[in-house]
Amino acid sequence: MSQQTLVLIKPDAVARGLIGEVVSRLERKGLTIEEMRMRTMDAALADAHYADHVEKPFYPPLKEFMTSGPLVALIVSGDESIAAVRALAGATDGRKAVPGTIRGDLSLSNRENLIHASDSPESAKREIALWFS
Ligand code: PPS
Repeated sequence: MSQQTLVLIKPDAVARGLIGEVVSRLERKGLTIEEMRMRTMDAALADAHYADHVEKPFYPPLKEFMTSGPLVALIVSGDESIAAVRALAGATDGRKAVPGTIRGDLSLSNRENLIHASDSPESAKREIALWFS
């Protein structure tokens, strides 16, 4: 079943010149880039986007990082795209993500881990509305 999912190419990936690398991996998988927009997350958008995590101990450094510079937001679509993009991204912690995934090949951090991808149809709908309303 075709789905839409929200992808963020995080500030570390933008700073490292990896926008094209991440987009290329999504395209080579056969996914479709429907929308793509560069912007900087402000505090209010961070709190809304990470509503499930604002009380967690890792949230302050996560927020500082995610608001530290420009990122690229995308709507990506394709058959089972939510699971497909999560699989391409790899495990949250880049030190543990397996080679072949975006994080496994390119990240050594669980904060500077290059990409965010919606984790469920409900999250995708909520996040797409936040970023592309
Ligand atoms: S949870 O609690 O299992 O749901 O959290 P998890 O899915 O592992 O991570 C949610 C997002 O928090 C980021 N994260 C961190 N940021 C900074 N510092 C630390 N220690 C840290 N641990 C997790 C992680 O990269 C996830 O970001 P997104 O944007 O959702 O990928």
